[in-house]
This record gives sequence, structure tokens and C-alpha cells, in this order.
Amino acid sequence: MTDQPSAPPLVAAQRIARRDAARQQTLLQPTDFALAASERVALTGPSGSGKSVLLRALALLDPLDGGRIEWRGRPVTRARIPTFRRHVAYLRQRPALLDGTVEDNLRYPYSLAVYRDVSFDAGRARALLAGAGRGEAFLARDASELSGGEAQIVALVRVLQLDPDVLLLDEPTASLDPESARAIEALVAAWFERDRAAHATVWVSHDPAQALRVGTRQWTMHAGVLANASPSGPPAATAPREAAR
Ligand SMILES: Nc1ncnc2c1ncn2[C@@H]1O[C@H](COP(=O)(O)OP(=O)(O)O)[C@@H](O)[C@H]1O
Ligand SMILES: [Mg+2]
Repeated sequence: MTDQPSAPPLVAAQRIARRDAARQQTLLQPTDFALAASERVALTGPSGSGKSVLLRALALLDPLDGGRIEWRGRPVTRARIPTFRRHVAYLRQRPALLDGTVEDNLRYPYSLAVYRDVSFDAGRARALLAGAGRGEAFLARDASELSGGEAQIVALVRVLQLDPDVLLLDEPTASLDPESARAIEALVAAWFERDRAAHATVWVSHDPAQALRVGTRQWTMHAGVLANASPSGPPAATAPREAAR
């Protein structure tokens, strides 16, 4: 599946689980998952089935209630989480931008301790924005005045300039106009192709046509259960009904 069959997956999850303690509800059933370099996974499933819960768990953004995550075959201990988050970037559906200009937003990550060793590269940022059809003047735009599509482009460029290895994309084009959606797909594709032997994506989509475009492996979620949706995998139709919200 990868260029180096002996290499461990980039991200591996062993029996990871998430619970809502307050409501005594299982959000994610114990789940195994492995993402090798050069893989592109598309994840679909009904609203509320746990797609975001899974992605946020894979990114170690929410505390696990069981299981563990490995990065390149090594468990991600608490001390290694900041480094892990540099490798594995999560992009949410509705980006959170700071007050200020687009450039302020692109510069922001470099003010964080974990990125102290790198600095903002305006040329790189401009090249990435050009890949989304946005010119130089876009850097000076006020973030609060951007459309949803433009805000998502800024959020994606903010992540891509930091050179992650794995992108976890959580419905990044839902509710975007078709042109912005194509820009997002193009940016991700260009990043992926730049070093496909080292990059991998998981892309949550509610659009089956997009899932086929962006994924070489198709997975689906039902009621906190992850199932392989490709013909060779276990049939997704046997998954339990959705948990009530
Ligand atoms: N941090 C949380 N605490 C409690 N419940 C949550 C939390 N995050 C998500 N949920 C619940 O888990 C279920 C799955 O949510 P989610 O993963 O966002 O679904 P989707 O597949 O639409 O992305 C929903 O019922 C949601 O309300
Ligand atoms: Mg979601």
C-alpha cells in the first residue's frame, strides 16, 4: 500500500474510544485505524454518526477514553503531543479566524512556542494563495469581511504553510460555493502531490462525488462505528442505527 511496505503507518489508532461521561453515551466505539503515507481516505456517514469525534480523536484534540495513537510506530505520549500536532493537522468545517488581516492570521501560528524554529514566509503564503486564485491584495483583507469560502482558504493556507504530513479535513467545503470548494480541493491536491510519499489525508465529506474524488479508500461511520465502505470490506449496511442526538 505504501512505497516502503516495511514502514509503519504515519498514524495508527488502536482501540481508540470516546465517551460522553455526562450523558453516559458512547461517541466512538473502540476503533482501530491506520493511515499509511500516500493514502487518501474519504469518510462519509450521516450527520451525528461520529465523523468529527473520530477525526478530533485521531488528532488528539480531545482526550481519549481508551486506546492509543501512534505516530510512525511510536506511541504519542503526552510530552509528544505538540510535535504530533505539527505533523497531523486538523481543519474544521467552520474556520476560526482572528481579528485582523489575512496576513495577521497567516502569521499567527509562528507566534506559538511550538513553531518558534520557523518563521512566516510571505512568498510561500502568496504562492499558496495564488493556488487558490487569490492575489497579493488578499493578504491585506480584513478577516472579518471574508466570505465563508475565503475564510476556509485562509484556514487551509495557514495550515499548509506549516508543512504538515497528515491533513484531517472535516467537511472543509460543506456550505461553500462551488468555486471555493474547487479551490480547496486544488490546494490540498497540490500539497499532497508535492510529497505524496510522505503525505496522507482523511477527508470527511457528505458529498459522495467529492468522496470519490478525494479518497482512494472509502470509509463510512454509523453510530460511532467505523466501517470500510469499499466492496472488499465488511458491509456498512450491518452497522447499528444512529445514536439519538
Ligand atoms: N465533546 C462532546 N461531548 C459530548 N458529545 C459530543 C461531543 N462531541 C460530539 N458529541 C456528540 O457525538 C455525536 C457525534 O458527533 P459528531 O462527531 O460531531 O458527528 P458528525 O458525524 O456529524 O461529525 C453527536 O451526537 C454529538 O452531539
Ligand atoms: Mg462533523
